[in-house]
Amino acid sequence: MRFDLISVFPEFFDVLKLSLVGKAREHGLLDIHAHNLRDWTTDPHRTVDDTPAGGGAGMVMRPDIWGKAIDTALRAGSGRQVLAIPTPSGTPLTQRACEDLSHADQVIVACGRYEGIDARVAQHYAGQAEVFEFSLGDYVLNGGEIAAVALVEAVGRLIPGVVGNAQSLVEESFSEAGLLEYPVYTRPEEWRGLTIPSVLTSGDHGAARRWRRDRALDRTVERRPEMIAALDAATLDKKDRRYLASLGYLVPKSAPHPERAEVRPASASDVPALVALAARTFPDACPPAMSPASIAAFINEHLSERAFAEYLADPHWVTTVLISGGRPAGYTLALLPEGNGVAGAEDGAPDGVVERDGPLVELSKVYVDRAYRGTGATAWLMDATLARLDEATSDYPRPVVWLGTNAGNRRAQHAYRKAGFEKVTTREFLVGEERNSDVVMARPLRVA
Ligand code: ADE
Repeated sequence: MRFDLISVFPEFFDVLKLSLVGKAREHGLLDIHAHNLRDWTTDPHRTVDDTPAGGGAGMVMRPDIWGKAIDTALRAGSGRQVLAIPTPSGTPLTQRACEDLSHADQVIVACGRYEGIDARVAQHYAGQAEVFEFSLGDYVLNGGEIAAVALVEAVGRLIPGVVGNAQSLVEESFSEAGLLEYPVYTRPEEWRGLTIPSVLTSGDHGAARRWRRDRALDRTVERRPEMIAALDAATLDKKDRRYLASLGYLVPKSAPHPERAEVRPASASDVPALVALAARTFPDACPPAMSPASIAAFINEHLSERAFAEYLADPHWVTTVLISGGRPAGYTLALLPEGNGVAGAEDGAPDGVVERDGPLVELSKVYVDRAYRGTGATAWLMDATLARLDEATSDYPRPVVWLGTNAGNRRAQHAYRKAGFEKVTTREFLVGEERNSDVVMARPLRVA
């Protein structure tokens, strides 16, 4: 692969004689030529710039001088030829762009100084080569030389044979999976009181791989959240998804990318979307034999717009919503009694059945939209709800929370057991006109 680097300071490119790039040149893998732009001037002062048309500060590089230099470089190459122009106003130089450039036959880098190169240069050569105006990042350098060196190193190391250990490239292509790299360690095992994470020295390769993957997710969430939002969901396994949930991102079924999610108290502006969510999710918890009319009657009475407005207005109701991708994806409704009384006595609260020293709180609804089941959303919503109820009953030593769920709904009972609930009794529960056999479950709100 041939590089032609053109600059008024060609000595800048002496660094490309060092290290792996230097070796690759010796081995004939990279053919790098540095040129002095002033070699194409004809005046005694070897002038390459002039004042900007339209006025303003600084100087602009002349297109006629650049034209002669670039023509010469283009004649020296063949095949796929790219004219790369470093400029802070270019498109960002990414790994993907470097991978693409590594398939070119020749890359000419035109390094501007001062206020840049006359815009007609990029315009003119777009007709005969690929023109790539690129930026190293959102900061201004004094010229394009550092950017040219960065490009040569980043592209050059992708040429087969330039980097000795092909595995390094493969592991970085992890970077293709769209995550930042995990932290790395080597001996000594303890340095200035800091030790290597023991999972890396345990010999358990599976655990080490998982640990690295989680740290890559941590770093990316922390430093480059926009990369998380762009992650291809197909590259995420179940453990990735669980871990992402703990970092505030959910991957609903068949979604292309993770979504930013949060759990918070519901507010009035959530009501219309909450009502729609409640109507979608309530039937999932009903036994198959239940009639649509009974379900509709229940929804109309307890899950309508008016009902939610009343929940929000009444401080005894604790309404918590899971928002994912900007929309409600789950909610809980809990009822606090007065003092250390009983919430839902008429609904079959297990008063006298459970031991308590504080209120008996009713967890009346826990619903998560279908696409979010099995994503970690339910556990997150449940934990956040229990934390709110714990806080609301903090005056009492041993408050208890209870709920009733359909005896046939194994999925729900399993989820509640995972959240620390145990079956304490049963109840009959009316949905519309129909009787249901429910399991009543409870758990202490405060776990020592
Ligand atoms: N020239 C000056 N600043 C630059 C940057 N950030 N990237 C590429 N070329 C530049």
